[in-house]
Amino acid sequence: MGVIKAAITGINGWVPEYVLTNEELATMVDTSDEWITTRTGIKGRRILRGNGSGTSSLGVPAVKGLLEKTATDPLDVDMLICATVTPDMQFPATSNIISAKTGLKNAWSYDLNAACSSYIYALTTAAQFIETGKYKKIIVVGADKMSSIVDYTDRATCVIFGDAGTATLLEPTNDGVGIMDTILRTDGNGMAHLHQKAGGSVKPATHQTVDAKEHFIYQEGQAVFKFAVTNMADVSVEIMEKNNIKPEELAYLVPHQANLRIIEATARRMGIEKEQVMINIQRYGNTTSATIPLCLWEWEDKLKKGDNIILSAFGGGFTWGAVYLKWAYDSN
Ligand code: ACO
Repeated sequence: MGVIKAAITGINGWVPEYVLTNEELATMVDTSDEWITTRTGIKGRRILRGNGSGTSSLGVPAVKGLLEKTATDPLDVDMLICATVTPDMQFPATSNIISAKTGLKNAWSYDLNAACSSYIYALTTAAQFIETGKYKKIIVVGADKMSSIVDYTDRATCVIFGDAGTATLLEPTNDGVGIMDTILRTDGNGMAHLHQKAGGSVKPATHQTVDAKEHFIYQEGQAVFKFAVTNMADVSVEIMEKNNIKPEELAYLVPHQANLRIIEATARRMGIEKEQVMINIQRYGNTTSATIPLCLWEWEDKLKKGDNIILSAFGGGFTWGAVYLKWAYDSN
């Protein structure tokens, strides 16, 4: 085998049934369908309901469906990485829980948190393990129950987020396809603008932190928006130029779905057409670690072997980056 690359060989998504519409949100906070649609592009988002349901409840059906559709024996999976900012609990890792519930008895597993960039960070990490030649089947779960950290009295954040689970299978290839390049960045100074104040080791949960609503997302929307637009566009153009991809040679940009205006600005900077951009933010909102694989899953039957695809994300940290891959299979 020549140079080993890691290829996506299967993808699956799972979303809860309950749709929280803009109209329903307008009965909860001072907002309107018109404001949410024009400022974010979101019309609805899925919410996981039920006591005892957590992020693993989103990841488990996604993994089970992936194993079934790719005819993968759970005992053949070497490793599972769960990309999430909303783990079931502080420990054990949600990946451990998902692995146990899906019969991955021979896999080792851990969680990875890079906020909204978690999926591209996890995909890149998994690819490194495959490229060593030691690992043959790795599952990346991108799942978040964002409703568990959203304050449904805060109109500036509650309209944005939704819940979803996804599972991506990675395997080795020497067929000239797979993950070709990645650029990943971090700037921890961004913490000031986007974080969760309490519940970690700096500020463990107390009555006061709960009363002060410090276990919810804190976001300075406008500041984050400015960094997101600039950095997501810059890194997407950078990976395109580095790999000599002309706009017309790109099959799809798969952007993190945080705000339709950020997506459109990124596409404009890349010089690509609307048809080349995967957008489903209107149906699911920002599902953090699940947005990009949720798009790939919904577009899977349109993808052809060899298609040039760029994944691009920006999130809390700040973290951001882009992945360039050549799609590895025809679905039809
Ligand atoms: N309905 C009606 N009005 C609202 C709402 C709402 N839901 N939310 C805010 N407003 C009001 C504000 O109070 C403000 O009113 P004021 O002018 O009277 O003070 C006005 O609308 C404008 O508020 P902005 O915050 O400036 O609105 P903006 O156009 O920036 O949109 C948004 C807010 C959607 C949050 C946007 O800033 C955004 O998308 N930011 C980036 C989000 C992002 O990319 N996050 C990173 C990933 S998330 C992660 O990593 C976990």
